Amino acid sequence: IIDVEEKLVMPGVIDVHTHMREPGITYKEDFATGSRACVKAGVTTFYDMPNTIPTTTTLKNLLEKKKLAGEKSIVNFGFHFGGSKNDNVEEIKKVLRNGEANTVKIFMNVTTGEMLIEDDEVLKKVFGNSKLVLVHAENEMIDKAIELNKNYGKGLYVCHIPSEEELKKVINAKKNNELNTKEHPVYAEVTPHHLFLNTEIRESTERNKMLLRMKPELREKSDNEFLWEAINRGEVDTIGTDHAPHLISEKLEKITFGMPGVETSLALMINAFNEGKISLEAIQKLMCENPAKIMKIEKRGKLQEGFFADIIVVDTQKEWIVGVDDTIESKCGWTPYENWKLKGKNTMTIVNGKIVYENGKINDSHNGKEVNFLK
Ligand code: NCD
Ligand code: ZN
Ligand code: ZN
Ligand code: ZN
Repeated sequence: IIDVEEKLVMPGVIDVHTHMREPGITYKEDFATGSRACVKAGVTTFYDMPNTIPTTTTLKNLLEKKKLAGEKSIVNFGFHFGGSKNDNVEEIKKVLRNGEANTVKIFMNVTTGEMLIEDDEVLKKVFGNSKLVLVHAENEMIDKAIELNKNYGKGLYVCHIPSEEELKKVINAKKNNELNTKEHPVYAEVTPHHLFLNTEIRESTERNKMLLRMKPELREKSDNEFLWEAINRGEVDTIGTDHAPHLISEKLEKITFGMPGVETSLALMINAFNEGKISLEAIQKLMCENPAKIMKIEKRGKLQEGFFADIIVVDTQKEWIVGVDDTIESKCGWTPYENWKLKGKNTMTIVNGKIVYENGKINDSHNGKEVNFLK
């Protein structure tokens, strides 16, 4: 029996877009530290991106990564397989056939990692041989991705849409019943940093000028506002954090793209609810229900009879200061929201029916042995 008093009980957050940096870049993050950051903040499932070292572009590399996460993660997890510029379509087919991943991530612009695909023939083959394709696509690459999905694809998920102009492209595609069909649906993801941060905040201090660099870059305040309006019109499918940790020393030394996100995403959204910017129902849809549907979590094997008991208890009235009243679990050791005063905090996380976070304490005693791998 758990007495939650006045608090809010909701499904655990499913974060479709994280970079847990393992294997190969584990000085920035690993599955243990990354999943501790998750449970603290109410994220009970993460999907990890393929731009690790080595890249997750062969079945062998995927199985290696799965083994590492299985040993270390204290939350449920899954992977997006990577499309390679060197045409790994045979590997994509193998992975999808084996059911080790259901989605393929491709990079259509330059960002962290060496995974840019520029060859149109490779892009066509990737779309033609995948199920849902997640894209890093900016500006006109969004148009290209929408066309590829229409002509060859079976589903498109546009990651981290930063601006009014780019989100309009995706919304228009979503509303067009030739571009967005049951056979090749279109989904829109927005990150917390493109909702809460902008160039004005970035340019306000020398430190922020370095820390707040990411791909796609932050945009204007008016873009933040458009993103919020679109969210409230129901035109955005998910909030994905694009949790992309780099050490603070790396960030300050030279321009490095990406920043951490899983530890603050839900609290920022609950704070936005307290400011009247969004409903709790919308938060639940964007962060729990839609990710589960898009990733087809509710349809997998045994899970058809219901999902795991992944439950969180949120104190919507708790006031706290980020980075002051809490710990930073991510190995990167910093947050872009340091010193932000928020109202709303996760207080308990239950993963697969077991309390793994309560009253500021993480219980990671099970070493990931009871967590689920989601295909
Ligand atoms: C991400 C990273 O560091 O892995 N960086 C970023 O700026 N968003 C890669 C990505 O998602 O583009
Ligand atoms: Zn990206
Ligand atoms: Zn990313
Ligand atoms: Zn356990």
